[in-house]
Amino acid sequence: MCAMKKIAVLTSGGDAPGMNAAVRAVVRSGIDRGWHVMGIRYGYRGLLERNIIGLNLRSVSNIIQQGGTMLFTSRCPEFHQEEVQQKAADICREEGIEALVAIGGDGTFRGALELARRGVPCIGIPGTIDNDIAASDYTIGFDTAVNTVVQMVDRLRDTSRSHDRCSVIEVMGRTSGYIALESGMACGALCILVPEQFYTVDQIVEKMMETLNAGKRHFIIVMAEGAGHAPDLAQELEKRTGIRSTSVVLGHVQRGGSPTAMDRVTASRMGSRAVDLIDIGMLNRVVVRQGGRLTDYPIEEALQMHKTIDMEMIRTATLISI
Ligand code: ADP
Ligand code: F6P
Repeated sequence: MCAMKKIAVLTSGGDAPGMNAAVRAVVRSGIDRGWHVMGIRYGYRGLLERNIIGLNLRSVSNIIQQGGTMLFTSRCPEFHQEEVQQKAADICREEGIEALVAIGGDGTFRGALELARRGVPCIGIPGTIDNDIAASDYTIGFDTAVNTVVQMVDRLRDTSRSHDRCSVIEVMGRTSGYIALESGMACGALCILVPEQFYTVDQIVEKMMETLNAGKRHFIIVMAEGAGHAPDLAQELEKRTGIRSTSVVLGHVQRGGSPTAMDRVTASRMGSRAVDLIDIGMLNRVVVRQGGRLTDYPIEEALQMHKTIDMEMIRTATLISI
């Protein structure tokens, strides 16, 4: 047990369903230890503006099921500047913040690392729908986002089937294809297009014609935003195949919604673990999930890790979609 007196928590970068569950776990785990827990609103921008509020057990009531983040979030490009990072570290000291829990993606972790280097102990929690944090096989928000995509694609499949059409659905993921792969496989997509795997329009056209000849009458193609733009592909496919092809860019609906049980439970476990690490003096680390179990790594080490998309999963999904 350390003689910690005051910690703070913030959410940063793209919001993700489940962030509230993580905030709730941090607040209640900290208060359970007799600590003061402060909420920093609007991420690193809020820290720079001293947008800091005291939180109590009731502050985080009735949020576990809410999407978004009660602490709000931001993207704060100026935080890349050394003098801004130093100002933020100075503010933490002036506010008596002895440790900071930063919930966000790898960009948020990079910001936390800069604070750690300037004497502010930090713990990162992976919160992004992209699931693109190499050190963790899961990030908070991913399961909810995938299930949102699945619900939308199932609806699109109904109308594509009724009209014998092709539907191209573009999903988020920034430069990764994890949302596309998981949702594409769950929806039985004919093709799953991810930035991690090169593809040609010829290959898609060939697959459509091959399966058309085998009796398939409608087509679902799931495309990660990093692999192209659905309207362009739909237009090209219609031109090349003569099959009416429509497109949907799902966009920010993937970031909303009530978090699934997976996200609520994972977020709660990670938030509690973050406070455990602070309590035993294991600082400047990120909480991650590997093989279903929680573990943790130094922030800098976690940021240097790499992970690759499951190519075998892509092959299987493609094979069983004929
Ligand atoms: P995410 O955390 O989801 O990856 P961002 O990439 O926007 O989202 O990162 C969140 C915030 O973290 C940024 O808006 C910025 O304030 C800060 N940040 C990102 N990268 C760095 C960096 N290399 N150095 C310092 N701060 C950074
Ligand atoms: O990182 C999460 C994410 O939703 C990405 O998948 C997407 O490309 C990006 O955020 C969108 O960022 P913004 O909400 O700032 O437009």
